[in-house]
Amino acid sequence: MSGTLDKQQAVRATKNPSGSQGSPAIRSFVRRRGRMTEAQRRALSDLWPKYGVAYAPAPLDLQDLFGRDAPCILEIGFGNGDALLTQARQNPDLDYLGIEVHDPGIGHCLLEANRQGVENLRLIQHDAVDVIRDQIPNGSLRSINLFYPDPWPKKRHRKRRLVQPEFVALVATSLEPGGRFHTVTDWPDYAEQITAVVDNNPLLAPITTPHPKRSTTRFEARGEALGHDVFEQVYQRMLDIPKAGEKEYK
Ligand SMILES: C[S@@+](CC[C@H](N)C(=O)[O-])C[C@H]1O[C@@H](n2cnc3c(N)ncnc32)[C@H](O)[C@@H]1O
Repeated sequence: MSGTLDKQQAVRATKNPSGSQGSPAIRSFVRRRGRMTEAQRRALSDLWPKYGVAYAPAPLDLQDLFGRDAPCILEIGFGNGDALLTQARQNPDLDYLGIEVHDPGIGHCLLEANRQGVENLRLIQHDAVDVIRDQIPNGSLRSINLFYPDPWPKKRHRKRRLVQPEFVALVATSLEPGGRFHTVTDWPDYAEQITAVVDNNPLLAPITTPHPKRSTTRFEARGEALGHDVFEQVYQRMLDIPKAGEKEYK
């Protein structure tokens, strides 16, 4: 990756990762139906207006979205949202934006957010790659959390893994200076891939100091029960953000 890869270049690469004209994007997920409870189904229609944000290819106004000016944390692939809700409840001074594509998980998260009275939370149901590329303003996020991304363990599926150079370029440009990209996986070779890809991004540097305890996710609990190792990697966004209209980082 060149040292000056900006969001627009990453956009083109991400829209068409195979490099062949007109081919569809390779997604990091497969749309599964999954079983939904009646309550989850109702939540998707009744509670969506309260917490949901539509995908649109235009930058969001985060202050407008949350009705205040507070640091914003993005969680990609929040699953059933329990860990996201815990973070949001424990940190009322921060705003949380969750992205997920799986209906039952979103339904569960909506129900719990409403039951627990969580206010500092908004959800987007769409591919996180599109959302970060199109909706997240440059330099706007305090942290991007990627906890237990789908591992795609088979070699022929590796291209579906979310952490690719273009994705990491989008992550880096979306973080404010000093903002963090926080990843956790229990797949050793995915951890290696994350290290290799992020090492190549000129805007991100690894943090080796201990980070505050975070709440355990559903996949984490499952991995722990199976005795899996946990690979937690945190990176910090360096340098100033570019001036308006200037896309190149020096
Ligand atoms: C292995 S699960 C982990 C869920 C949760 N983070 C946890 O630790 O329990 C990965 C989740 O990421 C979601 N996901 C995968 N690719 C995504 C994408 N491109 N955009 C949004 N969500 C995605 C999947 O639907 C799935 O729920």
